[in-house]
Amino acid sequence: MTSRDTLRFLLGTELREIKVMEPTTTVLDHLRLVERRTGTKEGCAEGDCGACSVVVARPGEGNHLTYRAVNACIQPLGTLDGCQLITVEDLAAADGTLHPVQQAMVDAHGSQCGFCTPGFVMSLFAMTKADLAAPDDQDIDEALAGNLCRCTGYAPIARAARDLADAPAPDQFDLAQSQTLTRLRALDDGAHLALSDGKGRRFFAPANGDALADVLVDHPQATIVAGATDVGLWFTKHLKRPTPLVWIGRAADLARIEETPAGIEIGAGVTYSDALETLARLWPDFGAVLRRLGSTQIRNAGTIGGNVANGSPIGDTPPMLIALGPGCICGPGRCAGCCRSSTTSSTTASRTGA
Ligand code: FES
Ligand code: FES
Repeated sequence: MTSRDTLRFLLGTELREIKVMEPTTTVLDHLRLVERRTGTKEGCAEGDCGACSVVVARPGEGNHLTYRAVNACIQPLGTLDGCQLITVEDLAAADGTLHPVQQAMVDAHGSQCGFCTPGFVMSLFAMTKADLAAPDDQDIDEALAGNLCRCTGYAPIARAARDLADAPAPDQFDLAQSQTLTRLRALDDGAHLALSDGKGRRFFAPANGDALADVLVDHPQATIVAGATDVGLWFTKHLKRPTPLVWIGRAADLARIEETPAGIEIGAGVTYSDALETLARLWPDFGAVLRRLGSTQIRNAGTIGGNVANGSPIGDTPPMLIALGPGCICGPGRCAGCCRSSTTSSTTASRTGA
């Protein structure tokens, strides 16, 4: 297994290579304390308020990047491997011209004290990069549901969002998209990522399920993390520093959804956002609940597998999974027969669960 000991990602357009990293370092702490990019704020440090919203771009289907807003406060820095991280500092043009999202907020008087504003701007920026012909009110509500404002109120911000639909001119990110894709694909070397803080504390990001199994054999006490929407609070609220931390988000074989005659298999790395289309099509009520789960930022990071594996008594998805029936948790070709006493077909939570 090829291994790499350096985290690599684009911060805006600049390559970052990080060799020494405390495994529980969050994206927000790195931005504010190391990069001195203080535009991204800390409000709650638990994924609720959206003040820390940043956008992560990854190669998606075809020749396109997918842009997703996430909460930097609970996102481990190591999860940026192979991505472009975009913060509010990246939006204005080199000559200082505001990005259309920023200008719309100014024109609609969408800011007062300004503390929440960078987070709203980044959520709106992500919305403009989604495949929406013209965002309607529901799209806008969903895009902004993870951002809280204590002083402006939401009407001017929603007005700014609606105004953006009238100004769809390409921005610098659209113009540089193929160049950025080329750079990100060059970073995707398929290697197993093994980082250290230089004092024995480790962060692993295996490139596939087999490599994950190898890491877990060597480190049975490891903490497995996918979206970190719960584990991230261990760092920020409980000041825990688990090591090693094993992130499964680089394992492409754990990020698949497979529909078969026996059921549906959801890999442990599939985010709520990625599972939404399939689950809403098969079970509209499941889709309706998922759209209310957390926020767009949380759904873009958190996984159903992690929600199950976390075992929280207040987990969001277990009640729905239980209501759908036991189903087959073995997967195609591996069924042990325990599901056959049920007449209810069939949902499959991740076997790996992380
Ligand atoms: Fe509140 Fe991150 S600081 S969601
Ligand atoms: Fe003050 Fe939103 S403008 S919190």
